[in-house]
Amino acid sequence: MTAVTVGSEAHESDIVFDVEHVTLRFGGVTSLNDVSLRMYRGEILAIIGPNGAGKTSLFNSLTGVYTPQEGSIMLSGRAGDPPQSVLGKKTHVVNHLGVGRTFQNIRLFPALTALENVQVGIEARQRSGPISAMLGLPWQRREQRESTHFAYQLLGEVGLAPKANELAASLPYGEQRRLEIARALGTNPGVLLLDEPAAGTNPVEKRELAQLIQRVNTDRLVSVLLIEHDMKLVMSVAHRIVVLNFGEKIAEGAPAAIQRDPAVIAAYLGTSAEEAAAQAAAAPDVQLIEGTTEAPLEATPEDTRDDGEVNP
Ligand SMILES: Nc1ncnc2c1ncn2[C@@H]1O[C@H](COP(=O)(O)OP(=O)(O)OP(=O)(O)O)[C@@H](O)[C@H]1O
Ligand SMILES: [Mg+2]
Repeated sequence: MTAVTVGSEAHESDIVFDVEHVTLRFGGVTSLNDVSLRMYRGEILAIIGPNGAGKTSLFNSLTGVYTPQEGSIMLSGRAGDPPQSVLGKKTHVVNHLGVGRTFQNIRLFPALTALENVQVGIEARQRSGPISAMLGLPWQRREQRESTHFAYQLLGEVGLAPKANELAASLPYGEQRRLEIARALGTNPGVLLLDEPAAGTNPVEKRELAQLIQRVNTDRLVSVLLIEHDMKLVMSVAHRIVVLNFGEKIAEGAPAAIQRDPAVIAAYLGTSAEEAAAQAAAAPDVQLIEGTTEAPLEATPEDTRDDGEVNP
């Protein structure tokens, strides 16, 4: 069994996702172009980049929604799992291998309560099927009790216990995003993929979300892959950052270095790296979260895009 390490002590020999030379095309559009990256067990790894950079396409490739035409993706979802290829596997299989995710466009069951939404996530992993549920077999009833208990626990962890019996659709946006995280945790994933969890949330909700992500990482020992446009949130939680632009990886490193990387600033400002470097030299305190660069990094719920199939 491989030792679990967390946070900045993530162990480079224990790889969760090993992405090698992945290229994903849709007709004439190349969403990912020869992308290689590694995610280590225990880390919070952020994927950033301008709109259309290929971030969601990467998530969809990691979770079996899309199968890239080139390259390989190996996954060891939970500590000690032998690496296996994700390519060609269905989303529910990848989910069973320890990968939980949330979606850029929230996917809850609006007419179910918060508690029921989380139970759906938990029960996706249980052995009871509709027949045993109908017959009310003893282990089925026990699983039901356990799932209710676990669902309450997860709602508590995301701060939604008092909202357990409210309909998902009636919850404010930030709470819906936290509910999605609780649901994704229902399968006890070893790695959690969050696609813009802060989109459309207010500053207080963003701070709560940052704390939640850190708790999931340190208390539940879940590795977190985070797509996020809010640079303050990214800088405050990420141990490492990978930057995509036009489907290519243009930078990778510690948050402080990424924040000052001319190629990264240029990608966000839509200028060349040389221009960005010249600007940075003229104003050395220019960073991604300062002044003018902040506005383009903020996503609104409206500019989100559909992201493939439903993942259970
Ligand atoms: N199913 C699809 N069919 C055709 N093109 C697609 C599909 N999915 C993604 N793309 C294209 O791939 C490119 C990358 O899109 P993707 O959604 O991965 O970007 P993103 O980095 O997540 O952007 P955003 O920050 O706006 O969410 C875009 O040009 C997009 O139009
Ligand atoms: Mg996206």
